[in-house]
Amino acid sequence: MIGIAILGIGSIAETHARVFKTFSGRCVVRALCDLYPEKAEKFAALHGLDVAVYKDYREILCRDDINLVSICLPPSEHAETTIAALEAGKHVIVEKPMAASLAQCDLMIEAADKAGKLLSVVAQNRYSIPAMKLKRVIESGLAGRVLHATANSLWWRGQSYYDLWWRGTWAKEGGGCTLNHAVHHIDLMRWMIGTPEEVTAVFSNANHENSEVEDLSVAILKFPGGSLGVITASLVSHGEEQELVFQTERARISVPWKLKASLPLENGFPQDDPATEREIQDLYDSLPAIPYLGHEGQVDNLLSAIEGREQLLIDGREGRATLELIMAIYKSAATRTTVRLPFSRDDSAYRKETLLALMPRFHEKKKSVENFSENTITLGRNVGK
Ligand SMILES: NC(=O)c1ccc[n+]([C@@H]2O[C@H](COP(=O)([O-])OP(=O)(O)OC[C@H]3O[C@@H](n4cnc5c(N)ncnc54)[C@H](O)[C@@H]3O)[C@@H](O)[C@H]2O)c1
Repeated sequence: MIGIAILGIGSIAETHARVFKTFSGRCVVRALCDLYPEKAEKFAALHGLDVAVYKDYREILCRDDINLVSICLPPSEHAETTIAALEAGKHVIVEKPMAASLAQCDLMIEAADKAGKLLSVVAQNRYSIPAMKLKRVIESGLAGRVLHATANSLWWRGQSYYDLWWRGTWAKEGGGCTLNHAVHHIDLMRWMIGTPEEVTAVFSNANHENSEVEDLSVAILKFPGGSLGVITASLVSHGEEQELVFQTERARISVPWKLKASLPLENGFPQDDPATEREIQDLYDSLPAIPYLGHEGQVDNLLSAIEGREQLLIDGREGRATLELIMAIYKSAATRTTVRLPFSRDDSAYRKETLLALMPRFHEKKKSVENFSENTITLGRNVGK
């Protein structure tokens, strides 16, 4: 039985606790930790958890019956707690974003390698049926090369969202919607078609006054071979109509799944191509569904990897690669230049201190609350079942 400690008993901890319960034959939550232990006590009672509650996570790490640490803390806490847990011989699943800098990611990866323990970075939207199938369709080559990619990572949050103490600050949240929301679509795009070689981006804060960080960014990506991509990250989009669209040589394919193919008339203008659509749809339909979705899918894979039955899909290197693309968007937008990937270790985008020195403070954060009374959150939209 895999013993688990959850660090950070706020909004996303609910999802982690529910998911661990789904796999109750294989794992059990034994410890909770929060700066506000009374939150953890209330949470334990609400979820019927038989746990010990801690204020300092370091006290948990000497317990032999804890094998996996689930980190649901604000981004600024991810690196230190992950490294300490790995050094104490625990496996770790850490919420997105992996960390606040590439330097921190590298220390986390090194700690996992040294300890011989697993480090999993949450990217639960890979565990959606349309996402898994779309990746397989692209990999099959049936649709041809990807020419143009669009990620519309469109979210909506009211002004009060940034009143929570750690949000809306470069130091604690590490960034705005590009890092903390679009990370999902950026991860999906990169997972499906790889990392671009060049990034040119613009960002701003259009409508969240209690925040230093951006609530809008648009990035143009240039991939090896000449294809282009556009990522829009937004917190000002009513309806949150999120999508990931690939225009390939033979068709338009996307999450949510939608397929359209064109053939040229003699003069080059388009006509429908039902035969190609049938071919690609048949492949899509033939691909297997996945048994568990979202966080459940990712945790099932992690538990199976700990049990020695599966490869870990989303490890530290995957989390780092996604963060590198986000850091490229930040550096490009802040310096108003096109940046090239990958970054070297002496690049200003590599360390948190040097990257943050480049960032504009869009507004001064003036209001701060310790906790909201309401813990309900919505996760990604349109990723599909
Ligand atoms: N995967 C997803 O879709 C998803 C969704 C929401 C949040 N998240 C991520 O989960 C993480 C937490 O977000 P949240 O919305 O649950 O935040 P939250 O503020 O609701 O919860 C964080 C908790 O950590 C506690 N905490 C902070 N610093 C601490 C410390 N040093 N020691 C112990 N406890 C500490 C806080 O008191 C709080 O209860 C963030 O990285 C966020 O980006 C992921």
